Amino acid sequence: MKTEFRPEPLSQLNVPALVAYSFEEVSASSGTAERLPEETQQQLQELQATGELTGKPFEFTILRRPAGLAVSKLLVVGAGKREKFTETHLRHLAGAAARHLRSRGGRELAWVLGSTEPGAIASVVEGVLVADYDADLYRTERSGDKGIDSLWLATGGEALLADAEAALSRGRILGEAQNFTRDLVNEPSNIMTPTKLAERATEMATKFGLECEVLGAEDIQRLKMGALWAVAQGSQMEPAKLIVLRYSPAGAPEQPVIGLIGKGITFDSGGISIKPSENMHEMKTDMAGGATMLGVMQAIAQIKPNVRVTALIPATENMPSGNAFKPGDVITSMSGKTIEILNTDAEGRLVLADALTYAKQLGCTVLIDAATLTGACMVALGNITTGVFGWNKEWVNRVLAAANIAGEKMWQLPVDDDYRDLNKSPIADLANTGGRYGGAITAAMFIGEFAGDTPWVHLDIAGTRWANDEKPYRAKGPTGHGVRTLVQLLTNFKA
Ligand code: BES
Ligand code: MN
Ligand code: ZN
Repeated sequence: MKTEFRPEPLSQLNVPALVAYSFEEVSASSGTAERLPEETQQQLQELQATGELTGKPFEFTILRRPAGLAVSKLLVVGAGKREKFTETHLRHLAGAAARHLRSRGGRELAWVLGSTEPGAIASVVEGVLVADYDADLYRTERSGDKGIDSLWLATGGEALLADAEAALSRGRILGEAQNFTRDLVNEPSNIMTPTKLAERATEMATKFGLECEVLGAEDIQRLKMGALWAVAQGSQMEPAKLIVLRYSPAGAPEQPVIGLIGKGITFDSGGISIKPSENMHEMKTDMAGGATMLGVMQAIAQIKPNVRVTALIPATENMPSGNAFKPGDVITSMSGKTIEILNTDAEGRLVLADALTYAKQLGCTVLIDAATLTGACMVALGNITTGVFGWNKEWVNRVLAAANIAGEKMWQLPVDDDYRDLNKSPIADLANTGGRYGGAITAAMFIGEFAGDTPWVHLDIAGTRWANDEKPYRAKGPTGHGVRTLVQLLTNFKA
């Protein structure tokens, strides 16, 4: 998608469609609609008088050959109440306009900027990119093929601030990063194998100048990653990979080194503790945590914050072959801690355990993991909110604050010593499940055992990885949830 500023007065701009928004107010000439010429505003007032234009959220009003404008089509999008309006709304409005226009054959969109504020510019670009994404990758006639070609940012003759171009590229970087994550999650597991995930990570790293190393099955065994190996041994076809990406800008302080660990189960059948067949196909998305971290790395490689970041993605299938690990098995993790397997479907915490141990060995001083870890978290918070866990108040709060700015809903759930007994085993140091009750908490605390004293935050994205419904501003399917928050956390990072 081409994105450029257009300096012409709005009345002279000659593009297929111009988009403005209007708040739910006494006058229809609010929002960016108030920047339109007098005659156009009069037409909008008439539509308001007849009740055709109210400014309610995502109301679409199309004016053909609007008075006072050179364009043949003006789209006015309802922006809701002015008091509630945020950058998240602006992203959604721009996205909704894009989806509305392209569903009617529109390929070009000129957005009337309310201000040349960098935040607004970035929001519009990002909102359109995210909205222009569709999950129908393997349909012969993709809706994405009829997507938006050109986004024009109409300044209406107003001078651009110095950082306008930077804002434009920030919006692009963020939008593309989320779409990259969504692409990876969307792929079926016969295509997005651990090998393929590692390939995509390597390609991305090469393109954006990150260090990338892929450990294979022999390395995993040599490093005694018994927990990752236990899960991996069930797959006859697909060898496990541990993907490591490094962003280490010259001149950044030696510490902290932020470790981003993403669960990379490319298909979770449950293993010998096999899942019910209903909805099992959804388990192609069980590498969403890993995909999130790859999206974050792609973004920060371009934003270039002054902080060291290492991403680790333990990638494997969880399959029930004759080689598969079994309930009752006792395995030894890389940390030396022994684990009794009570349920082979609790595999995410196992692969994360070894990845966290390795992250510390590589020098990470802060650990943040993202994982489609538990159905329990999805039961608690639905598809809307990510569960946040951790003992370290400062880092949990940093993540929550970043999520708040990013406009991603995240909510802290407790970790507490009183739950610890639930993860006990009569035969080993730990059991890999803590029972049904508090399942998201005991899963998180299992991972926390491997973080030890290192500050650690866990994000359970089981619910938020995927949207079951379409919104005016976003297709149904993979969401890229978590990318914005972590990029926000790392941008302008201050130790
Ligand atoms: N990948 C699943 C969790 C999941 C469920 C993610 C639904 C997305 C949507 C995870 O590996 C799993 O199977 N968890 C089990 C743990 C249980 C066996 C202790 C669960 O949540 O049922
Ligand atoms: Mn599982
Ligand atoms: Zn899983």
